[in-house]
Amino acid sequence: MATAMLRRATPTISRLVATGAGPCSPAVRLMLSRLHASEAETKQVEPKANAAPSMKTFSIYRWSPDNPGKPELQEFQIDLKDCGPMVLDALIKIKNEMDPSLTFRRSCREGICGSCAMNIDGCNGLACLTKIPSGPSSTITPLPHMFVIKDLVVDMTNFYNQYKSIEPWLKRKNPPQVPGKEILQSKKDRAKLDGMYECILCACCSTSCPSYWWNPESYLGPAALLHANRWISDSRDEFTNERLEAINDEFKLYRCHTILNCARACPKGLNPGKQITNIKQLQRIK
Ligand code: SF4
Ligand code: SF4
Ligand code: FES
Repeated sequence: MATAMLRRATPTISRLVATGAGPCSPAVRLMLSRLHASEAETKQVEPKANAAPSMKTFSIYRWSPDNPGKPELQEFQIDLKDCGPMVLDALIKIKNEMDPSLTFRRSCREGICGSCAMNIDGCNGLACLTKIPSGPSSTITPLPHMFVIKDLVVDMTNFYNQYKSIEPWLKRKNPPQVPGKEILQSKKDRAKLDGMYECILCACCSTSCPSYWWNPESYLGPAALLHANRWISDSRDEFTNERLEAINDEFKLYRCHTILNCARACPKGLNPGKQITNIKQLQRIK
């Protein structure tokens, strides 16, 4: 097909070059790049059509409030040769082609929104950033120890309330030096927020933390505590002591036993356990 297109396009390209559009002119380059793209597309599609299927079974947690009974694992078989590489691709394929009632959250498809967090073969992660594991089968369940709303969708109310409780915004006692202007921060002080500002609130860490499983309402959990430290560490914030005092609590803070499941689970490579240790050290010297 691409060869036929090339044959059709060659006179056009020659005409463009003859009319003064050099071989490097944007028009010629655009036409050539389109040809290359369609050629690459053909190369990708042709072997797929001839290849033997590569079947994989996905066992997916199903539960619906419309049919309240025991949850179950439902099996779906899909051909990996006809599917994108990520777990989210497989879920979308199942929803589009096999069962439109399968329910899961997703939005950005690139590890930014945090909405596709789930448990994949026993590990929390983002479905859009997790490659479909090798092997004949995989099990996908909701984030552990969370109330399920439907299928892979969990209730995040408690998690968000805990985030809200640490007051995740800049708090000042004094107005900016120049009224109406931003409060400046040195590069060095800004660098102190690295490893915290990147958090996307996916809850992979909190829902992998044994202390959070047993005390989800009284222990703030690694995500909320990471954000608490993000504001405690911000040179522009003037409520550092009050923030430390608000979480200086046997349950809110000290349920963390530095097991570090949270760091292992974080899809953004953050280490909430380290930030919690920092808060504990500040509590000692304040
Ligand atoms: S380090 Fe603390 S927050 Fe992280 S998993 Fe362990 S107990 Fe939970
Ligand atoms: S620290 Fe990592 S795992 Fe925890 S909520 Fe933020 S991005 Fe998700
Ligand atoms: S869809 Fe946004 S993080 Fe996966």
